[in-house]
Amino acid sequence: MFRLFAAFGQKDTTLVEGPRVNLRMLVPRDFRVLHRWFQDIELMAFAFGLTVEDSILRKIAMEYFDDLVNFSNNAHAIVTKGGLLIGFVRFSLRKDMAPYARIGIMLGDRNYWGGGYGSEALSLSIAELFDKKGLARIELDTAQFNERAQRCFEKCGFRKTGETTEVNFLTGEVSHKVIMKLTREEFMHNMASNPS
Ligand SMILES: CC(C)(COP(=O)(O)OP(=O)(O)OC[C@H]1O[C@@H](n2cnc3c(N)ncnc32)[C@H](O)[C@@H]1OP(=O)(O)O)[C@@H](O)C(=O)NCCC(=O)NCCS
Repeated sequence: MFRLFAAFGQKDTTLVEGPRVNLRMLVPRDFRVLHRWFQDIELMAFAFGLTVEDSILRKIAMEYFDDLVNFSNNAHAIVTKGGLLIGFVRFSLRKDMAPYARIGIMLGDRNYWGGGYGSEALSLSIAELFDKKGLARIELDTAQFNERAQRCFEKCGFRKTGETTEVNFLTGEVSHKVIMKLTREEFMHNMASNPS
């Protein structure tokens, strides 16, 4: 594969290889596809965990998209073995008593929902983050109504540690979220009990 990329003078941006998906850096041509996904209102409601008016969700989605275009170093494209872009993972590195990360994932291509692609991609990302960044834990949150995401995160080893209620200051609409965490110790334990 490397030789093939080299032969055509293209840079191989692959970071991690899994059984069915690879993670690679986002490249400029991806943003056309991502822009299309960010127009999908139902997808945005899942991704941001919000049940607000469509116009507000569109605004939030476009702000996030612009930020992603400008700061994509902390985002990894999820691609199939055939090279099809199906989603992305994005993380931010933080520190309180110890370094930790917050992470999020979106499969923009609905054909891949519920097929194990999200849990594979997220597992690859968290292994990479624990390995390379010396993190004490990884956290995320998701909407209470997003049961598929919660199940996916549980499969990756996350456990629910709390709930939160957010009120949209523009509309007064309330969003109920679930907070989930995975500590380094839990991750190491899971790896030891299920090395595959
Ligand atoms: C959330 C997401 C990343 C999960 O990836 P995925 O590939 O769909 O998830 P997986 O197939 O690995 O796991 C989903 C699990 O939920 C189950 N599931 C699917 N639909 C479900 C539903 N409506 N309710 C409850 N469980 C559901 C699946 O059966 C699977 O569990 P199983 O393997 O035990 O059978 C992906 O669906 C997605 O991007 N959705 C839209 C955006 C989003 O919600 N992002 C997360 C925001 S926090």
